[in-house]
Amino acid sequence: MCGIIGYLGKKPIVPVLLEGLKRLEYRGYDSAGIVTLSNGKINLVKQAGKISNLESLLAERPINGVAGIAHTRWATHGVPNSTNAHPHTDCGNKFALIHNGIIENFGAIKTDLISKGHEFKTQTDTEALVHLIEEFYKHHMPFEEAVRAALLQVEGTYGIAVVCSDEPDVIIAARKGSPLVVGHGDGENFVASDVSAIIDHTKQVSYLDDDEMAVVRRNGIEVKTISNLPVQKQVEQVAFELGRIEKGGYDHFMLKEIMEQPSTIKDAMRGRLIKDEGIARLGGMHEVMEALLNAKRFLITACGTSWHAALIGEYMLEEFVRVPVEVEYASEFRYRDPVIEENNVVIVISQSGETADTLAALREAKRKGASVIGICNVVGSTIARDVHAGAYLHAGPEIGVASTKAFTSQVTLLALITLFLARHRNMSAAKGAEIVQEMAALPEKVEKILGLREQIKKIAQLYHMSNNFLYLGRGYNFPVALEGALKLKEISYIHAEGYPAAEMKHGPIALIDENMPVVFIATKDSTYEKIVSNIEEVRARRGKVIAIATEGDEEIGKRADHVIYIPQTQQMLQPILTIIPLQLLAYYIAIMRNCDVDQPRNLAKSVTVE
Ligand code: G6P
Repeated sequence: MCGIIGYLGKKPIVPVLLEGLKRLEYRGYDSAGIVTLSNGKINLVKQAGKISNLESLLAERPINGVAGIAHTRWATHGVPNSTNAHPHTDCGNKFALIHNGIIENFGAIKTDLISKGHEFKTQTDTEALVHLIEEFYKHHMPFEEAVRAALLQVEGTYGIAVVCSDEPDVIIAARKGSPLVVGHGDGENFVASDVSAIIDHTKQVSYLDDDEMAVVRRNGIEVKTISNLPVQKQVEQVAFELGRIEKGGYDHFMLKEIMEQPSTIKDAMRGRLIKDEGIARLGGMHEVMEALLNAKRFLITACGTSWHAALIGEYMLEEFVRVPVEVEYASEFRYRDPVIEENNVVIVISQSGETADTLAALREAKRKGASVIGICNVVGSTIARDVHAGAYLHAGPEIGVASTKAFTSQVTLLALITLFLARHRNMSAAKGAEIVQEMAALPEKVEKILGLREQIKKIAQLYHMSNNFLYLGRGYNFPVALEGALKLKEISYIHAEGYPAAEMKHGPIALIDENMPVVFIATKDSTYEKIVSNIEEVRARRGKVIAIATEGDEEIGKRADHVIYIPQTQQMLQPILTIIPLQLLAYYIAIMRNCDVDQPRNLAKSVTVE
């Protein structure tokens, strides 16, 4: 979602800010803007649409300065036009402010300020905040105090950066619910919503916590609480390399990330599989080990693709650990007053570690006394820091909005947790060893499936003009059907639905005719015979069948219009293989429809508003 970068230093400011914004593009946005400070005034340029539009405008109306802030906006309040784009300014054009999050009580603040003579230019919630700062400043509060006083009146969430033309050597940043990081440079300092925006310049960062405020100057950064108490922040070294957030020769981040999966799956398992004993080791779980081993019920909560991984986790844990598992969308969990009892463990799954609903669900679970473990990808993210214990995916930055490699790593992590717990309960060493062996073989099998790209491209060619798609699977492959359909709709804008194959008869079958491609995930497993019957039902209605099947299954070739053969594996690990062709199918279809696969319309990578 919205992205923030701010810079104070000696480098030419506009390139630093624009490059930073480009690194944030992947989060999803619909307008962009920049402000710099020079000669006691603010220079503001903003534009609807892509950053390239902003760049063109800056070429016509060049600006410079030594301090500046820039923003990519994902519209919540007010249409995505250049007026509503951030930064926002006050009546006197003294302050400029960028904001991620939502100011829930902006209406009341705005009404009050209008009665005091303020004139509003935009439809946004954010503008109220900049006028409020102006109001306090007019009453002789210093800049920092005015920002603090204004923030104390705000209900809702924010990550902000604000500048004042009277103080060109300061950027004030503050956080409540929306991530912010400050970057420490040599004679230059940064603020950003995401480290990728500043990684070109510094790897030394401090993550702000909620209710903290940073006063960023060229030669130092002072962090305080919103109520003005000093805070000693740790300076952390960012681990990832710039190359990991570049396309590395691929046309799109999404394809690069799909192709990375043999190594990301290996990285998720690195040091965690113990072959000889047939067990998994989970280093980051010490804090909750007792709770984990004694768990009588698991609740898994997440959003989007991570929620699909959670569903697979439910199947795994129930089959092998034999404890009840409930999976719930984080947005429902947080407002439903969920029942959490003694010996319940909550697992939250989030690639970004910043999804607002997942974060709120995690806090609700903690409030109710549950032990909460996290499965996150982004190191140092809010969710990763808030949980009692957890495990990282180590998949490296995922830039494509449609999640691919994070999904397979999440499922891998859930398999490790399952193995770990099952071996502590009643799984035999022999079964454990079998699973370990199969897990270790996954990267090679994924590599083999990636080699089917040309075949999948040909299938995409045949169906890329279809208006609807149905994805069907059973058991472990039912969540894969949901995820396959999600991938397609996210990036190609084709209407696609995933269903448990047997449910087809309760509705979707009405849609089937010769124009409906139906993707069956029909691997050789305990439900194979059933799914073959479902294929027949679709064929009888002239639907087109694309089957994902197990190598050597010749029968299916006689029934389906197209078969993509994948290697055999343990049933519980199948989703890690079966999703790969579906990711590729969605990718090629979207490319053939000329869609922007890395930044699909209206979607955001990190959904920091509820
Ligand atoms: C957004 C992204 C999805 C992602 C979901 C949950 O919708 O576009 O790709 O699955 O958020 O995100 P999280 O970071 O919590 O896994």
